[in-house]
Amino acid sequence: MDLMAIVPGANLRYLTGLDMHLSERITLALFPAEARPLLILPHLEAPGAEQNLETDVSLYTYSDREGPDPAFRRATDDLDLKGKTIGVEHLRMRVLELRWLEGHAPDSEFVDGEDLISRLRIIKDDEEIEAMRRASEVNEEVFRVVTTQIRPGVTELALATTWQKAALDAGGGELPEAPIVASGSNGASPHTRASSRPLERGDLVIIDGFLRSQGYYSDITRTYAVGEVDEELELIYSLVQEANSAAREIIKPGIKAEDVDAAARGVIEEAGYGEYFMHRTGHGLGLEIHEPPYIVEGNELILQPGMTFTVEPGIYLPGRGGVRIEDDVLVTEDGCEALTTLPRELLRL
Ligand code: CO
Repeated sequence: MDLMAIVPGANLRYLTGLDMHLSERITLALFPAEARPLLILPHLEAPGAEQNLETDVSLYTYSDREGPDPAFRRATDDLDLKGKTIGVEHLRMRVLELRWLEGHAPDSEFVDGEDLISRLRIIKDDEEIEAMRRASEVNEEVFRVVTTQIRPGVTELALATTWQKAALDAGGGELPEAPIVASGSNGASPHTRASSRPLERGDLVIIDGFLRSQGYYSDITRTYAVGEVDEELELIYSLVQEANSAAREIIKPGIKAEDVDAAARGVIEEAGYGEYFMHRTGHGLGLEIHEPPYIVEGNELILQPGMTFTVEPGIYLPGRGGVRIEDDVLVTEDGCEALTTLPRELLRL
């Protein structure tokens, strides 16, 4: 590649410190292999960018009246984009940015540059790990608050709102998205949202909450019992707990991402519940809630110290309910460290 083109999002934040959003006003960063990077952006975003830039980047601004064309012209004159190989983000760049770029980079070839940046981002440095520890602390504080509210009659939505407010109070710095709160039979669907269903005695309730601190995510799931639950729900809980620890116990540098999935899945399959664990065991975590490495069968990526991801096996029984226990882990020199310290035993509330 002669250069990479980056749109607002996690990669731009990683490379420049800028936390910008995609909008109808085009913003595009160009990172040449050898020269100084440059950023094309609306004039009104320039003061914020100047304040938050952590790297040396030239700004090419445009006003609403003139539109992005002159800024593109100046930028591409300075960089000479004719006949180049340009890396773009296949997962993030919109047709809007691609068309502008194509128009100003004649005879250039566009290739997928996601993997290149992913290889940089997948190993977290000390500062990033510190931010993730802090996010985890905040998230755990939130779970402790929400746990005190779990009782028959409380709706899933009320718990979700409590969770969001507690996240603000605990110093997350921003209102996070609503968590998944799935009680009783709603828990049989892994990605359902909170509903107006009130908790009932005998329910399991899954709470899956994620929030950021200094840009980095924590993503935690715990499953609680509302009073006593029946024998099969007790059983699937203990299986998921066992699967979670089996996965965490084998994590160390040198094994494959798919080995972690196999360790968790093995426990659940052996007990005859394999078909009810229908998602991957985990996903990478960092500036994004889902990023590499994905902990899934077929991913032969070798784990290395500094990688961070979730371990979140689950069992979901249609019509009955579900269990998921999700921890965030850091691969260390000789094993793994859980960034999550909340108890994993079944709490009956
Ligand atoms: Co997750």
